[in-house]
Amino acid sequence: MDYLTFFKLDDDPFRLTPDPEYFFPSQEHNEILNSLNYAIEQKEGFSLVIGQPGTGKTTILRILIDHWKDRAEIALVMTPRLQPEEFLQAVLEDLNIKLGGRSKNEMLKAFRDILITHAATGKRIMIVVDEAQNMPDETIEELRLLSNLETEKEKLLQIILMGQPELQKKLNAAHLKQLDQRITIRAVLRPLTRSETSDYINFRLIKAGKGTIVFDEESRKKIYDMSKGIPRVINLVASRALMAAFVSGSASVSRDHVKYAIEHLAGEHNVPWRRYVPFVRYGIAAVIVAVAVIVGLYRFSGTTFSKNTPAAGPQARSVQAKEPATASGHLQEKAGAPVGVPGLSGNMPPEAALPKPDTVRYVTISAGSANMRGAPSVTSAKVAWATKGATFAVLESKTDSTGRTWYRVQYPSEKPCWISEKLVTEKQ
Ligand SMILES: Nc1ncnc2c1ncn2[C@@H]1O[C@H](COP(=O)(O)OP(=O)(O)OP(=O)(O)O)[C@@H](O)[C@H]1O
Ligand SMILES: [Mg+2]
Repeated sequence: MDYLTFFKLDDDPFRLTPDPEYFFPSQEHNEILNSLNYAIEQKEGFSLVIGQPGTGKTTILRILIDHWKDRAEIALVMTPRLQPEEFLQAVLEDLNIKLGGRSKNEMLKAFRDILITHAATGKRIMIVVDEAQNMPDETIEELRLLSNLETEKEKLLQIILMGQPELQKKLNAAHLKQLDQRITIRAVLRPLTRSETSDYINFRLIKAGKGTIVFDEESRKKIYDMSKGIPRVINLVASRALMAAFVSGSASVSRDHVKYAIEHLAGEHNVPWRRYVPFVRYGIAAVIVAVAVIVGLYRFSGTTFSKNTPAAGPQARSVQAKEPATASGHLQEKAGAPVGVPGLSGNMPPEAALPKPDTVRYVTISAGSANMRGAPSVTSAKVAWATKGATFAVLESKTDSTGRTWYRVQYPSEKPCWISEKLVTEKQ
């Protein structure tokens, strides 16, 4: 009997593929999807999503592409280690433009023609690059040049870059600054919280047919402690733990099964050769991923969105530890762990700089999207932007001359970010 039959499951619940069928709409994933949809809808031009390995970037892309496939021509580049001309060819092929031995100039002309044709019909043209940290610098520059092919009135081309934290470091380099400055929507995809991790496990079990298997509470806790909420690691550990329960004939997954799985993944468990056999499918790759994620975990975390005004753009990147990190609804759960500066700098603020979870007040954006202003007044300049559901820690509050309360919130900008009470709900 195989384990699916044993647990009465229809499908493998923790498969390592970015399958839209299994998409778990966590707050982070949802916010990023909303932001990208907004960016494409509003023809914002360049969008960037940064996330540690395994946080769900490719999964989000698949959902996004599904959403837009009938209303956009999409060139999806999954293997971006291409030189500029190869990259251009790949894009044109995806857009169904016949190459037929065209020179580079002819390719560019064909590309421009298709942009103009579709501008007239309202159809978006999207270039989506996954694993964009692997793009050679010259290809990134080529992408910027492509984005120059637009009318004066509107951005015909929507470009979405998804990548690991090295991508932002790359874009910070002086010679790529021009592209970086064009990014209007940027987001950092943060891992799941402890309670989301538990929901995520449930969600995947239900999708796979629920069956009879139960992950007890201690096992979920342990999975979160190990994975720190990174979906790929959750899948790895949960899958192994499920196997361990199966091998031991247990109808539920316990903390010990998870412990065994973790030790096994980390290569610490001195298992006899025969016991290794059921797990061999996942093998060495799983160990490498788990170790890489653990190392990466303490270097980067946090989610934010910032629609860069000319003033806020470059500054958002240069956020330093002097300004405490953006809090979110999940801060409480993250209090023991370093919270990343979501301003994409990759630097961690000292933990002491973070507000104490038990004293801090939070506001959650209740409007569809909300502007943040440089001072507590409706006439003050907009400095940033956030979407519904985003939660921020409040640094101070003030009442303006009309009696309206304003909250200064933690946000990865060197400018103060004030938000009106009309756009948020407050929770203690
Ligand atoms: N929101 C989600 N719902 C369901 N499964 C998810 C979600 N996010 C991630 N996963 C699962 O986690 C695994 C890794 O996700 P994905 O490949 O999208 O990560 P990634 O950020 O693209 O990683 P990498 O940087 O290594 O390419 C996949 O198995 C995917 O199914
Ligand atoms: Mg990916």
